[in-house]
Amino acid sequence: MSALPGSAEGTAVTGLDSSPVDASPETLAELPPLTEQTRLEAREIIARYPVARSALLPMLHLVQSVQGYVSPEGVALCAEELGLTKAEVGAVATFYTMYKRRPTGRHLVSVCTNTLCGVLGGQRIMDALSSDLGVHHDETTADGSITLEHAECLAACDYAPVVTVDYEFYDQQDVDSARELVAALRRGEKPAPTRGAPLTDFKGISRQLAGFSQYGDAAATAAAVDAPGALGPTLVGLRLAEERGEAAPDMPKRSATSSSGGAAAEAAGVESAQRGAPEPAGRSLADQNDGTDTPAGTEPGTSGQGPATPPPSTPAPGKA
Ligand code: FES
Repeated sequence: MSALPGSAEGTAVTGLDSSPVDASPETLAELPPLTEQTRLEAREIIARYPVARSALLPMLHLVQSVQGYVSPEGVALCAEELGLTKAEVGAVATFYTMYKRRPTGRHLVSVCTNTLCGVLGGQRIMDALSSDLGVHHDETTADGSITLEHAECLAACDYAPVVTVDYEFYDQQDVDSARELVAALRRGEKPAPTRGAPLTDFKGISRQLAGFSQYGDAAATAAAVDAPGALGPTLVGLRLAEERGEAAPDMPKRSATSSSGGAAAEAAGVESAQRGAPEPAGRSLADQNDGTDTPAGTEPGTSGQGPATPPPSTPAPGKA
């Protein structure tokens, strides 16, 4: 979508005129407010990017870190700070499943029911938790402790069936272990994930995804993220490829001319993004990736293992 900031075009495209949320007036009244501190942190996020609207994704995580979902107040704050319409913000927030449209419980439990996890018991886990908790997909328990959702592939198929809690991995689950895990969460415990950083909660991980580390410094972050887990990284695919002598095709080489042209195209792309115009013609896929994608290895991790300093740029909303 390329609606101009401040225009009614976004509303026309999305059909949304205020926010994508669905919450009762009672729920809204109980929400912690977005404070001046939130607004200042939103501006801190905006300052990381050459084009302000590129900050929308982490700003939505920031809103969730305070209120547990993308609230109408959060939509309005993002729109005000970025010069977008609320409809435009809503269009982005409703595109990605990590942005929640109703208040989330203290922990978000995601059960992979995609192909490999599904055939190895993922659906049985989902059904058992749903029955125990008395909730279905995208619903929250009455005590506010757990939001349950089924998820598509969580990118850890070699450890199927996989459950994540607040995006931290609990690999090779079965019905009994998943039940134990959720019971522990409801008792206020934080069982160690099988890999990655220690468990926080949904608001805590949302703050990390907004780019604010819970750890004091880079060393503390590294110590937490690199702590030994019960299982190693998911490398089965890599090992199989090595055994078979398979490798990814080479990336097209960029000539010196195209390299400098790429910088010009990037500048043109920034300008066109500000105008809501299409990308300049003639850019190769490689060039497009060079200009706005987060460089490999610097993406903010869902385990808080993101870079100590934020990446120079991220995809514009809708292009992630
Ligand atoms: S199918 Fe469940 S992690 Fe891939």
